[in-house]
Amino acid sequence: RRNQTLKDVNVLITAGPTMEPIDPVRYISNHSSGKMGFALAKAALLCGAKVTLVAGPVHLEPPAGCTYHSVKTTKEMHEIVLQLFDQQQVVIKAAAVADYRPAEMAMQKIKKNQTDLTIQMVKNPDILLELGKKKTHQILVGFAAETEQVAAYAADKMKRKRLDLMVANDVSREGAGFQHDTNEVILMKPSGEMKEIPLASKEIIAQEIISEIVTILNRK
Ligand code: PMT
Repeated sequence: RRNQTLKDVNVLITAGPTMEPIDPVRYISNHSSGKMGFALAKAALLCGAKVTLVAGPVHLEPPAGCTYHSVKTTKEMHEIVLQLFDQQQVVIKAAAVADYRPAEMAMQKIKKNQTDLTIQMVKNPDILLELGKKKTHQILVGFAAETEQVAAYAADKMKRKRLDLMVANDVSREGAGFQHDTNEVILMKPSGEMKEIPLASKEIIAQEIISEIVTILNRK
């Protein structure tokens, strides 16, 4: 489905997990594979967009034609996204950002000479919340990965983070969310409009999200 509906539109997409080091050999992360974000990058490229993809540690080939930034920690993702934000017309945050990180990274490998180990965690910045506060002309698209009360939690995040479009996925459902090649989502808008997209490949889901963004852009 190649078209020019996003011709020369700058689109920034985040994908994958972030990784927070505990010591030189261990880390805290999550199950995001990056597939959803990469599918969005491909779908946006097919519509003629200028795509910048910022991804945490993933095992995927960056789609040809995008500008690619590989990051590890939330701090790194935060820095690059904020640096690039002003130039963007559309920002899609599909990354699963670690909400907490170890307060300190041990400089040496932690030895297992104690029965219990407690790791003090501190909160990471909420990148999307900050973008919501900063946004001027940008269309801001967020995801919500939920396991219960999906629509209610997602609606709350959409409002708090001042999003133009929320993609809610129930990650406890078969074939949806992390790792899978498929997903099942609800698209939500601040107007209260909702659209359910039934189980489909992440490529198809990405195309649906992109065409919703095109609609929002055209109405602006
Ligand atoms: O990568 P895959 O294996 O293909 O899986 C896809 C996915 C399940 C990761 C994806 O569909 C998804 O739901 N991504 C968002 C996951 C997430 O972190 O959701 P959240 O509800 O915790 O966060 C809400 C939003 O705020 C997200 O857009 C997130 O990028 C953003 N956020 C969250 C925390 C934080 N510190 N900074 C953020 O920017």
